[in-house]
Amino acid sequence: DLDGNPAVRRLGDWSAARLRDLAADHGTPLYVVDLGRVRENAARLRAAFPDAAIDYAVKANARKPVLETLAEEGLGAECASAGEVVRAYEAGVSTLRYTAVNPPARDLDRVVEIAAEREVTITVGARDTLTRLADRDWTGRVYLRANPAVGAGHHEKVRTGGDPTFGIPAERIEAVAADAEGMGFDLVGLHAHAGSGILGDLSGHAALVERVSEIAADLADHDIDAVSIGGGFGVPYHETDPPLDLGALAEATRDAFGADARLGIEPGRYLVADAGVLLARVNTVKPTPETTVVGVDAGMTALARPALYDAYHAIRSLAADASERGTVATTVAGPVCESSDTLARGRSLPVPERGDLLAVGNAGAYGYEMASTYNSRPRPAVCALDGDESWVCVRRETVDDLSRLDQ
Ligand code: LLP
Repeated sequence: DLDGNPAVRRLGDWSAARLRDLAADHGTPLYVVDLGRVRENAARLRAAFPDAAIDYAVKANARKPVLETLAEEGLGAECASAGEVVRAYEAGVSTLRYTAVNPPARDLDRVVEIAAEREVTITVGARDTLTRLADRDWTGRVYLRANPAVGAGHHEKVRTGGDPTFGIPAERIEAVAADAEGMGFDLVGLHAHAGSGILGDLSGHAALVERVSEIAADLADHDIDAVSIGGGFGVPYHETDPPLDLGALAEATRDAFGADARLGIEPGRYLVADAGVLLARVNTVKPTPETTVVGVDAGMTALARPALYDAYHAIRSLAADASERGTVATTVAGPVCESSDTLARGRSLPVPERGDLLAVGNAGAYGYEMASTYNSRPRPAVCALDGDESWVCVRRETVDDLSRLDQ
């Protein structure tokens, strides 16, 4: 019975009354993030990987209380930009690592500036990045990012392994390692990432770990201490998806990991996805011959994943009498004039009424972070929960905010 499984929080596990109160108090669209759940996810992960270095992939959710919570849990931060390094640093994360993918000059400048005060490790995915860092008189701690030529993930758009954009080709790793040391860098680690959203089949993951271990063996002369196998641990989005078998994943990792170095993992989604929901208000109910269109105030600018990856997110009506209504096939659509602006199509939901509140599940990962102001639509507010407490940790953007940068 998956519903009682503490490793999964389904949309039905959230208190409808509490979510209705939050929406009434703070308006919609509203992201809600439960820090208690973030802590539970971190504890479960640590128990499964007791000896690993765990660096949270900040890109999944960089809101301040989330970063503070994970810092308190002792996790490090894997950052994709100077902005993420700054946010993680300000939230008190002690282990900072910047994964530089084609890093803009401004990012390198800023990270090098921070590294003068706090230790920052930089993961380098191209030989040029070494030169550009040395040009800034920085030759600190680096990992080399290898392209493992093994990809995995929920959608082709999030499979990085094997894509030549990401990492140094394996046959070049040794030469780049020699260069790094020759230039005076402190080469401490190897990194690879296959992709995002690994769930049922663990064979791709095992292949990645094996491949990374082989590449680590090529670096035997360089005495590296850390090998990070990236993130990608999936969560069930569909009501019928089984949860990730974390025990099996940890075992597969142990079996395949042959490097003589400390294992590192950098999960994002797994820690925060089911800690978040997005609340949206129904403003229009329109029967059509094909479907009942449910117009809501949150669309692709609030949550981009359905438009971008055809991602499935569970949707629940929070109407107090939802269970007494019949169901109807619906299309849940946002306010943006684009046919990609639907949160769900062909979804059976309780017969909708204008004013109903809907909750969108698993919105804690890659939700607010990917929000945009397309159509000059201000971004939602974010409300944090911790036990009985709740507070707005990101205020709602306003139309006036949108003009702030004009000059
Ligand atoms: N490490 C590296 C180097 C990464 O590029 C990523 C994600 C992670 C770790 C964390 O992956 P996770 O554990 O969260 O799967 N916006 C997409 C996901 C993009 C992931 C990009 N890289 C989505 O909403 O599905």
